Amino acid sequence: MKKWLKEKLICPECLASEIPLELNVKEEVEDDVMEGELSCSACNRRYPIHNGVAVILPDKTMPVISDASGYNSKNMLSSYLWSHFADIFKDPEATEAYRVWSSFFRKTEGYALDIGCSVGRLSFELSKTHSNVVGIDTSIAFIEKARELLRNKKLKFDMIMEGLITEKRSCEFNDDWNFDRVEFIVADALAIPFPGNFFSTVTSINILEKVSSPIRHLMDINRVLSETESMFVFSDPFSWDETVSPPEHWLGGVTSGNGSGKHRGIDTVIRYLWGKKEIFNPPMEITNKGNVSWKIRKTENLWEYINSQFVVGMRK
Ligand SMILES: C[S@@+](CC[C@H](N)C(=O)[O-])C[C@H]1O[C@@H](n2cnc3c(N)ncnc32)[C@H](O)[C@@H]1O
Repeated sequence: MKKWLKEKLICPECLASEIPLELNVKEEVEDDVMEGELSCSACNRRYPIHNGVAVILPDKTMPVISDASGYNSKNMLSSYLWSHFADIFKDPEATEAYRVWSSFFRKTEGYALDIGCSVGRLSFELSKTHSNVVGIDTSIAFIEKARELLRNKKLKFDMIMEGLITEKRSCEFNDDWNFDRVEFIVADALAIPFPGNFFSTVTSINILEKVSSPIRHLMDINRVLSETESMFVFSDPFSWDETVSPPEHWLGGVTSGNGSGKHRGIDTVIRYLWGKKEIFNPPMEITNKGNVSWKIRKTENLWEYINSQFVVGMRK
């Protein structure tokens, strides 16, 4: 974990009192803490840094990191490395999705937060316009890989063709990404370990439907997003899933009591951005909205085609 991040971190279990984390370094390489721990003086919790990866999760979320399936699996890594970088290694099937989402970023001296950053593409794009960028994700495999990309400034991976058969893919990264401004940590979208009003830009791309409480995710974004001169780039396919969260937690995809109203997720998010229930307070002005098509490549023969709706909110 790069040392510049230390000053900003707070305990995810003590968010309301914003207790700064203390850093104990056991091993470091050029301002990058490879082994050590962060600790909270209020609740005495300790958050490990191992192989450079800081894990700053609340107790409830901690089991996620030892789950070798889902977003920690080899297959997911291959899929998301393809999604994030296929346009750079010039795969003919690549989409423009990450270029579309990043086209909204504006130059600022502030910090940016990429929530559910996966293997880091949007964080790298944010480094062109922001003084510092933090990517957070609960997948330790994704964060390890994102940090490796940051270090090597190039991509090299085994892309799954079929079963255990893979092919190598590689590319050099763009010169205009500022790698020293970016850091990735394991942290939870529902307990973001940063103080209130801290970020000038926050992105939440394709993660709302993946969290157990979508409303808490939006509320925590409002907490960390600056009250002035800030931007929120949001996108989601709204493919609600009962194994992730119960329908009463969904922000759309359900009909109202008498069956007359069909609630759609994008409309709910927009109403919240406009200030409904003060989920976003101060409210945001909507500057862009639309759809982005993207793909997840699972194997040579298995693809997922996704349409994510997006909305961009601004505060002046
Ligand atoms: C559908 S993927 C989208 C990844 C990336 N934003 C993109 O669009 O390519 C969802 C991501 O959210 C992460 N994730 C799921 N629950 C999370 C949580 N509670 N906090 C942080 N990240 C989470 C997953 O590990 C995964 O990387």
